[in-house]
Amino acid sequence: MRILVTGGAGYIGSHTCLELLACGHELVVVDNFCNGHEEALGRVERLSGKPVTVVEGDIQDRALMTSLLREKGSEAVIHFAGLKAVGDSVSDPLSFYTNNVFGTISLLEAMRDCDVRKIVFSSSATVYGDPRWLPITENHPLRAKNPYGTTKLVIEDLLRDLYRSDSSWAIAMLRYFNPVGAHESGRIGEDPKGVPTNLMPFIAQVANGRRDELRIWGGDYPTRDGTGERDYNHVVDLAEGHVAAIEALEAGGMSEVNLGTGTAYTVLDMVRAFEEVSGRPIPYKIVERRPGDAASCFADPSLAEQRFGWRARRGLLEMCRDHWRWEQQNPDGYRDRSA
Ligand code: NAD
Ligand code: UD1
Repeated sequence: MRILVTGGAGYIGSHTCLELLACGHELVVVDNFCNGHEEALGRVERLSGKPVTVVEGDIQDRALMTSLLREKGSEAVIHFAGLKAVGDSVSDPLSFYTNNVFGTISLLEAMRDCDVRKIVFSSSATVYGDPRWLPITENHPLRAKNPYGTTKLVIEDLLRDLYRSDSSWAIAMLRYFNPVGAHESGRIGEDPKGVPTNLMPFIAQVANGRRDELRIWGGDYPTRDGTGERDYNHVVDLAEGHVAAIEALEAGGMSEVNLGTGTAYTVLDMVRAFEEVSGRPIPYKIVERRPGDAASCFADPSLAEQRFGWRARRGLLEMCRDHWRWEQQNPDGYRDRSA
Protein backbone atom coordinates (compact mmCIF):
# COMPACT_ATOMS: atom_id res chain seq x y z
CA MET A 1 0.00 0.00 0.00
CA ARG A 2 1.02 3.62 -0.46
CA ILE A 3 0.60 5.12 2.99
CA LEU A 4 0.73 8.69 4.27
CA VAL A 5 2.18 8.65 7.79
CA THR A 6 1.55 11.79 9.84
CA GLY A 7 3.98 12.29 12.72
CA GLY A 8 6.22 9.57 11.32
CA ALA A 9 9.38 11.23 12.66
CA GLY A 10 8.25 10.68 16.26
CA TYR A 11 8.86 7.80 18.65
CA ILE A 12 6.13 5.35 17.65
CA GLY A 13 5.92 6.65 14.09
CA SER A 14 9.58 6.02 13.26
CA HIS A 15 9.42 2.43 14.54
CA THR A 16 6.22 1.86 12.60
CA CYS A 17 7.76 3.26 9.40
CA LEU A 18 10.56 0.71 9.67
CA GLU A 19 8.12 -2.21 10.05
CA LEU A 20 5.91 -0.92 7.23
CA LEU A 21 8.90 -0.68 4.87
CA ALA A 22 9.95 -4.22 5.81
CA CYS A 23 6.48 -5.38 4.74
CA GLY A 24 6.83 -3.69 1.34
CA HIS A 25 4.64 -0.62 1.89
CA GLU A 26 5.57 2.72 0.30
CA LEU A 27 5.65 5.71 2.63
CA VAL A 28 5.24 9.45 2.60
CA VAL A 29 5.83 11.03 6.01
CA VAL A 30 4.53 14.46 6.93
CA ASP A 31 5.86 15.94 10.16
CA ASN A 32 6.36 19.49 11.42
CA PHE A 33 9.24 18.30 13.66
CA CYS A 34 7.79 19.99 16.75
CA ASN A 35 8.73 16.83 18.63
CA GLY A 36 10.14 14.55 15.95
CA HIS A 37 13.53 14.25 14.31
CA GLU A 38 14.38 14.15 10.62
CA GLU A 39 17.46 12.14 11.62
CA ALA A 40 15.16 9.35 12.86
CA LEU A 41 13.81 8.94 9.34
CA GLY A 42 17.32 9.00 7.86
CA ARG A 43 18.17 6.12 10.16
CA VAL A 44 14.95 4.32 9.19
CA GLU A 45 16.01 4.61 5.54
CA ARG A 46 19.48 3.28 6.29
CA LEU A 47 18.18 0.40 8.42
CA SER A 48 15.62 -0.64 5.84
CA GLY A 49 17.64 0.17 2.71
CA LYS A 50 14.48 1.78 1.33
CA PRO A 51 13.57 5.40 0.65
CA VAL A 52 10.99 7.43 2.56
CA THR A 53 9.56 10.62 1.14
CA VAL A 54 9.70 13.15 3.98
CA VAL A 55 7.72 16.38 3.83
CA GLU A 56 8.09 19.04 6.49
CA GLY A 57 4.60 20.38 7.07
CA ASP A 58 1.65 20.65 9.39
CA ILE A 59 -1.47 18.50 9.30
CA GLN A 60 -3.46 21.70 9.87
CA ASP A 61 -2.49 22.74 6.35
CA ARG A 62 -5.37 21.17 4.48
CA ALA A 63 -4.12 22.25 1.05
CA LEU A 64 -0.81 20.54 1.73
CA MET A 65 -2.55 17.37 2.96
CA THR A 66 -4.73 17.34 -0.16
CA SER A 67 -1.81 17.77 -2.52
CA LEU A 68 0.22 15.10 -0.72
CA LEU A 69 -2.60 12.57 -0.80
CA ARG A 70 -3.30 13.30 -4.46
CA GLU A 71 0.20 13.59 -5.86
CA LYS A 72 1.58 10.61 -4.00
CA GLY A 73 -1.45 8.44 -4.74
CA SER A 74 -1.90 7.53 -1.07
CA GLU A 75 -4.35 4.74 -0.34
CA ALA A 76 -4.38 4.98 3.46
CA VAL A 77 -3.23 7.16 6.36
CA ILE A 78 -1.63 6.30 9.68
CA HIS A 79 -2.18 9.30 11.90
CA PHE A 80 0.35 9.71 14.71
CA ALA A 81 0.77 13.50 14.58
CA GLY A 82 -0.27 15.12 17.80
CA LEU A 83 0.90 16.74 21.01
CA LYS A 84 1.07 14.35 23.96
CA ALA A 85 2.58 16.00 27.06
CA VAL A 86 -0.24 15.89 29.61
CA GLY A 87 1.15 18.79 31.70
CA ASP A 88 1.35 21.07 28.64
CA SER A 89 -2.25 20.20 27.78
CA VAL A 90 -3.34 21.48 31.20
CA SER A 91 -1.36 24.73 30.94
CA ASP A 92 -2.15 25.35 27.25
CA PRO A 93 -5.34 23.55 26.22
CA LEU A 94 -5.87 25.82 23.20
CA SER A 95 -2.69 24.57 21.53
CA PHE A 96 -3.74 20.99 22.16
CA TYR A 97 -7.23 21.36 20.77
CA THR A 98 -5.93 23.28 17.77
CA ASN A 99 -3.13 20.89 16.97
CA ASN A 100 -4.82 17.60 17.75
CA VAL A 101 -8.50 18.19 17.01
CA PHE A 102 -8.37 20.87 14.32
CA GLY A 103 -5.34 19.15 12.77
CA THR A 104 -7.26 15.87 12.55
CA ILE A 105 -10.31 17.60 11.05
CA SER A 106 -8.17 19.19 8.36
CA LEU A 107 -6.55 15.82 7.60
CA LEU A 108 -9.94 14.06 7.41
CA GLU A 109 -11.35 16.75 5.11
CA ALA A 110 -8.38 16.35 2.79
CA MET A 111 -8.85 12.56 2.88
CA ARG A 112 -12.54 12.88 1.99
CA ASP A 113 -11.76 15.30 -0.84
CA CYS A 114 -9.20 12.84 -2.26
CA ASP A 115 -11.40 9.79 -1.66
CA VAL A 116 -8.85 8.21 0.68
CA ARG A 117 -10.97 6.65 3.42
CA LYS A 118 -8.72 4.29 5.34
CA ILE A 119 -7.21 5.59 8.55
CA VAL A 120 -5.42 4.19 11.59
CA PHE A 121 -5.54 6.63 14.49
CA SER A 122 -3.24 6.79 17.54
CA SER A 123 -5.56 6.83 20.50
CA SER A 124 -4.55 6.08 24.06
CA ALA A 125 -5.56 4.13 27.15
CA THR A 126 -6.00 7.56 28.69
CA VAL A 127 -9.53 7.59 27.15
CA TYR A 128 -10.63 5.10 29.83
CA GLY A 129 -9.93 7.50 32.73
CA ASP A 130 -9.69 5.75 36.10
CA PRO A 131 -10.11 2.01 35.51
CA ARG A 132 -13.44 0.72 36.80
CA TRP A 133 -12.41 -2.86 36.09
CA LEU A 134 -9.25 -4.69 35.10
CA PRO A 135 -8.10 -5.82 32.67
CA ILE A 136 -9.60 -2.99 30.64
CA THR A 137 -11.80 -4.16 27.79
CA GLU A 138 -12.77 -1.88 24.92
CA ASN A 139 -16.34 -1.53 26.24
CA HIS A 140 -15.01 0.14 29.40
CA PRO A 141 -16.64 3.60 29.89
CA LEU A 142 -14.71 6.48 28.35
CA ARG A 143 -13.76 9.53 30.40
CA ALA A 144 -10.95 11.99 29.91
CA LYS A 145 -8.93 13.15 32.90
CA ASN A 146 -7.07 16.03 31.27
CA PRO A 147 -7.22 18.12 28.07
CA TYR A 148 -4.86 15.73 26.26
CA GLY A 149 -7.27 12.87 26.97
CA THR A 150 -10.20 15.02 25.88
CA THR A 151 -8.58 15.64 22.49
CA LYS A 152 -8.24 11.87 22.00
CA LEU A 153 -11.88 11.33 23.00
CA VAL A 154 -13.17 14.10 20.74
CA ILE A 155 -11.26 12.63 17.79
CA GLU A 156 -12.57 9.14 18.60
CA ASP A 157 -16.14 10.55 18.69
CA LEU A 158 -15.58 12.31 15.39
CA LEU A 159 -14.30 9.11 13.77
CA ARG A 160 -17.27 7.12 15.11
CA ASP A 161 -19.68 9.74 13.72
CA LEU A 162 -17.86 9.78 10.40
CA TYR A 163 -18.16 6.01 10.05
CA ARG A 164 -21.85 6.10 11.00
CA SER A 165 -22.44 8.71 8.30
CA ASP A 166 -20.53 6.82 5.62
CA SER A 167 -19.47 3.21 6.05
CA SER A 168 -17.11 3.41 3.09
CA TRP A 169 -14.62 4.76 5.63
CA ALA A 170 -12.38 2.09 7.18
CA ILE A 171 -11.15 3.17 10.60
CA ALA A 172 -8.99 1.63 13.30
CA MET A 173 -8.52 3.50 16.58
CA LEU A 174 -5.65 1.98 18.47
CA ARG A 175 -5.59 2.59 22.21
CA TYR A 176 -1.98 2.22 23.29
CA PHE A 177 -1.05 1.35 26.82
CA ASN A 178 2.56 2.23 27.84
CA PRO A 179 4.98 2.13 24.89
CA VAL A 180 8.61 1.58 25.92
CA GLY A 181 11.84 0.21 24.47
CA ALA A 182 13.53 0.87 21.17
CA HIS A 183 14.50 -0.90 17.97
CA GLU A 184 16.96 -3.72 18.63
CA SER A 185 19.61 -2.02 16.48
CA GLY A 186 19.86 0.81 19.02
CA ARG A 187 19.59 3.27 16.12
CA ILE A 188 16.07 4.59 16.73
CA GLY A 189 14.31 5.17 20.03
CA GLU A 190 12.55 7.72 22.21
CA ASP A 191 14.25 11.10 22.50
CA PRO A 192 12.27 13.03 25.11
CA LYS A 193 12.87 16.75 25.45
CA GLY A 194 14.06 17.93 28.88
CA VAL A 195 13.34 15.92 32.00
CA PRO A 196 11.36 12.80 31.09
CA THR A 197 7.99 12.48 32.78
CA ASN A 198 7.48 8.85 31.76
CA LEU A 199 9.03 6.11 33.84
CA MET A 200 11.21 4.15 31.41
CA PRO A 201 13.22 7.05 29.92
CA PHE A 202 13.76 8.39 33.43
CA ILE A 203 15.08 5.04 34.68
CA ALA A 204 17.36 4.78 31.64
CA GLN A 205 18.85 8.20 32.37
CA VAL A 206 19.46 7.25 36.01
CA ALA A 207 21.19 4.05 34.90
CA ASN A 208 23.35 6.11 32.56
CA GLY A 209 24.35 8.52 35.31
CA ARG A 210 22.51 11.49 33.77
CA ARG A 211 20.17 11.72 36.77
CA ASP A 212 20.88 10.96 40.41
CA GLU A 213 17.86 8.98 41.44
CA LEU A 214 14.37 7.95 40.49
CA ARG A 215 11.49 9.32 42.50
CA ILE A 216 8.79 6.68 42.76
CA TRP A 217 5.41 8.35 42.94
CA GLY A 218 3.69 6.46 45.74
CA GLY A 219 4.49 3.29 47.66
CA ASP A 220 1.09 2.71 49.26
CA TYR A 221 -1.06 1.61 46.33
CA PRO A 222 -3.07 -1.61 46.67
CA THR A 223 -0.64 -3.49 44.42
CA ARG A 224 1.85 -6.34 45.03
CA ASP A 225 4.59 -4.04 46.33
CA GLY A 226 2.70 -0.77 46.81
CA THR A 227 3.97 0.93 43.62
CA GLY A 228 1.85 1.68 40.54
CA GLU A 229 1.23 -1.03 37.94
CA ARG A 230 1.12 -0.51 34.17
CA ASP A 231 0.96 -2.47 30.93
CA TYR A 232 4.36 -1.75 29.31
CA ASN A 233 4.49 -2.60 25.65
CA HIS A 234 7.57 -2.90 23.41
CA VAL A 235 7.42 -0.17 20.76
CA VAL A 236 8.31 -2.66 18.01
CA ASP A 237 5.35 -4.82 19.04
CA LEU A 238 3.22 -1.68 18.78
CA ALA A 239 4.69 -0.94 15.36
CA GLU A 240 3.79 -4.45 14.22
CA GLY A 241 0.27 -3.82 15.55
CA HIS A 242 -0.03 -0.89 13.13
CA VAL A 243 1.04 -3.02 10.19
CA ALA A 244 -1.56 -5.62 11.14
CA ALA A 245 -4.24 -2.94 11.62
CA ILE A 246 -3.64 -1.16 8.30
CA GLU A 247 -3.64 -4.44 6.40
CA ALA A 248 -6.91 -5.44 8.12
CA LEU A 249 -8.48 -2.16 6.92
CA GLU A 250 -8.56 -3.59 3.40
CA ALA A 251 -11.69 -5.42 4.58
CA GLY A 252 -13.32 -2.15 5.77
CA GLY A 253 -15.16 -1.58 9.03
CA MET A 254 -14.45 0.37 12.19
CA SER A 255 -12.67 -0.82 15.29
CA GLU A 256 -11.56 0.48 18.66
CA VAL A 257 -8.83 -1.79 19.86
CA ASN A 258 -6.42 -1.96 22.80
CA LEU A 259 -2.76 -2.46 22.02
CA GLY A 260 -1.28 -3.83 25.23
CA THR A 261 0.23 -7.02 26.57
CA GLY A 262 -2.30 -7.83 29.28
CA THR A 263 0.49 -8.05 31.87
CA ALA A 264 1.03 -5.46 34.59
CA TYR A 265 4.41 -4.61 36.10
CA THR A 266 5.00 -2.38 39.10
CA VAL A 267 7.50 0.47 39.19
CA LEU A 268 9.78 -1.71 41.33
CA ASP A 269 9.53 -4.56 38.77
CA MET A 270 10.75 -2.06 36.17
CA VAL A 271 13.60 -0.86 38.36
CA ARG A 272 14.80 -4.42 39.03
CA ALA A 273 14.54 -5.49 35.40
CA PHE A 274 16.50 -2.43 34.28
CA GLU A 275 19.17 -3.07 36.92
CA GLU A 276 19.47 -6.62 35.64
CA VAL A 277 19.97 -5.74 31.99
CA SER A 278 22.18 -2.69 32.57
CA GLY A 279 24.23 -4.08 35.43
CA ARG A 280 23.88 -0.61 37.01
CA PRO A 281 22.19 0.29 40.29
CA ILE A 282 19.06 2.48 40.01
CA PRO A 283 18.91 4.51 43.22
CA TYR A 284 15.34 5.48 44.10
CA LYS A 285 13.27 7.20 46.73
CA ILE A 286 9.59 6.56 47.35
CA VAL A 287 7.73 9.87 47.58
CA GLU A 288 4.12 11.14 47.49
CA ARG A 289 1.71 9.83 44.87
CA ARG A 290 1.53 11.81 41.62
CA PRO A 291 -1.92 13.47 41.45
CA GLY A 292 -4.19 11.80 38.91
CA ASP A 293 -2.28 8.49 38.78
CA ALA A 294 -4.21 5.22 38.89
CA ALA A 295 -2.94 2.36 41.06
CA SER A 296 -3.13 -0.11 38.24
CA CYS A 297 -3.92 -0.05 34.54
CA PHE A 298 -3.61 -2.89 32.06
CA ALA A 299 -5.33 -4.09 28.92
CA ASP A 300 -7.35 -7.02 27.84
CA PRO A 301 -5.56 -7.38 24.49
CA SER A 302 -7.72 -10.22 23.11
CA LEU A 303 -9.69 -8.08 20.64
CA ALA A 304 -6.49 -7.08 18.80
CA GLU A 305 -5.75 -10.75 18.25
CA GLN A 306 -9.28 -11.44 17.00
CA ARG A 307 -9.42 -8.41 14.70
CA PHE A 308 -5.86 -8.13 13.46
CA GLY A 309 -4.20 -11.42 14.40
CA TRP A 310 -1.77 -9.34 16.50
CA ARG A 311 -0.39 -9.89 19.94
CA ALA A 312 2.64 -8.56 21.78
CA ARG A 313 5.60 -10.95 21.66
CA ARG A 314 8.38 -9.13 23.48
CA GLY A 315 8.83 -9.43 27.24
CA LEU A 316 9.99 -7.09 29.97
CA LEU A 317 13.71 -7.89 29.77
CA GLU A 318 13.70 -7.30 26.01
CA MET A 319 11.97 -3.95 26.51
CA CYS A 320 14.61 -2.90 29.04
CA ARG A 321 17.55 -4.31 27.07
CA ASP A 322 16.53 -2.48 23.88
CA HIS A 323 15.81 0.75 25.73
CA TRP A 324 19.19 0.51 27.44
CA ARG A 325 21.05 -0.10 24.15
CA TRP A 326 19.41 2.99 22.63
CA GLU A 327 20.22 5.09 25.73
CA GLN A 328 23.85 3.97 25.80
CA GLN A 329 24.45 4.46 22.08
CA ASN A 330 22.61 7.80 21.92
CA PRO A 331 23.00 9.63 25.23
CA ASP A 332 22.16 12.86 23.38
CA GLY A 333 19.34 11.27 21.40
CA TYR A 334 19.29 12.17 17.72
CA ARG A 335 21.70 15.04 18.35
CA ASP A 336 24.39 12.37 18.64
CA ARG A 337 25.15 11.96 14.93
CA SER A 338 28.04 9.56 15.51
CA ALA A 339 25.67 6.78 16.58
P1 NAD B 1 5.96 11.87 19.35
O1 NAD B 1 5.80 13.24 19.91
O2 NAD B 1 7.29 11.24 19.43
O3 NAD B 1 5.48 11.85 17.83
C1 NAD B 1 4.47 12.70 17.33
C2 NAD B 1 4.99 13.32 16.04
O4 NAD B 1 4.00 14.17 15.49
C3 NAD B 1 6.23 14.17 16.25
O5 NAD B 1 7.22 13.79 15.31
C4 NAD B 1 5.76 15.61 16.00
O6 NAD B 1 6.79 16.41 15.47
C5 NAD B 1 4.61 15.37 15.05
N1 NAD B 1 3.56 16.40 15.05
C6 NAD B 1 2.88 16.87 16.12
N2 NAD B 1 1.97 17.77 15.71
C7 NAD B 1 2.05 17.84 14.36
C8 NAD B 1 1.35 18.58 13.37
N3 NAD B 1 0.39 19.45 13.69
N4 NAD B 1 1.68 18.38 12.08
C9 NAD B 1 2.68 17.53 11.73
N5 NAD B 1 3.38 16.81 12.63
C10 NAD B 1 3.05 16.97 13.93
O7 NAD B 1 4.87 10.95 20.06
P2 NAD B 1 4.69 9.38 20.04
O8 NAD B 1 5.02 8.88 21.39
O9 NAD B 1 5.34 8.81 18.86
O10 NAD B 1 3.11 9.31 19.89
C11 NAD B 1 2.48 9.21 18.63
C12 NAD B 1 0.98 9.30 18.85
O11 NAD B 1 0.58 8.28 19.75
C13 NAD B 1 0.51 10.63 19.44
O12 NAD B 1 -0.70 10.98 18.82
C14 NAD B 1 0.29 10.29 20.89
O13 NAD B 1 -0.70 11.11 21.49
C15 NAD B 1 -0.16 8.85 20.83
N6 NAD B 1 0.13 8.08 22.05
C16 NAD B 1 1.40 8.04 22.55
C17 NAD B 1 1.66 7.35 23.72
C18 NAD B 1 3.04 7.31 24.31
O14 NAD B 1 3.18 7.01 25.49
N7 NAD B 1 4.11 7.57 23.56
C19 NAD B 1 0.62 6.68 24.38
C20 NAD B 1 -0.66 6.73 23.84
C21 NAD B 1 -0.90 7.43 22.67
C1 UD1 C 1 1.38 8.61 31.27
C2 UD1 C 1 0.41 9.69 30.88
C3 UD1 C 1 -0.65 9.11 29.95
C4 UD1 C 1 -0.01 8.42 28.75
C5 UD1 C 1 0.94 7.34 29.29
C6 UD1 C 1 1.65 6.57 28.21
C7 UD1 C 1 0.32 11.28 32.74
C8 UD1 C 1 -0.46 11.74 33.92
N1 UD1 C 1 -0.22 10.24 32.07
O1 UD1 C 1 0.71 7.65 32.03
O2 UD1 C 1 -1.51 10.14 29.48
O3 UD1 C 1 -1.01 7.84 27.94
O4 UD1 C 1 1.92 7.98 30.12
O5 UD1 C 1 2.75 7.26 27.74
O6 UD1 C 1 1.36 11.81 32.39
N2 UD1 C 1 6.49 6.88 37.79
C9 UD1 C 1 7.33 7.10 38.87
N3 UD1 C 1 8.35 8.01 38.73
C10 UD1 C 1 8.58 8.69 37.58
C11 UD1 C 1 7.72 8.47 36.47
C12 UD1 C 1 6.67 7.56 36.62
O7 UD1 C 1 7.16 6.50 39.92
O8 UD1 C 1 9.52 9.51 37.53
C13 UD1 C 1 5.40 5.88 37.91
C14 UD1 C 1 4.01 6.45 37.76
O9 UD1 C 1 3.50 6.88 39.00
C15 UD1 C 1 3.25 5.23 37.18
C16 UD1 C 1 4.31 4.52 36.35
O10 UD1 C 1 5.57 4.96 36.85
O11 UD1 C 1 2.86 4.37 38.22
C17 UD1 C 1 4.23 4.85 34.85
O12 UD1 C 1 4.24 6.26 34.68
P1 UD1 C 1 4.29 6.94 33.23
O13 UD1 C 1 5.39 6.38 32.44
O14 UD1 C 1 4.27 8.42 33.45
O15 UD1 C 1 2.94 6.46 32.52
P2 UD1 C 1 1.40 6.61 32.98
O16 UD1 C 1 1.29 7.17 34.33
O17 UD1 C 1 0.75 5.31 32.74
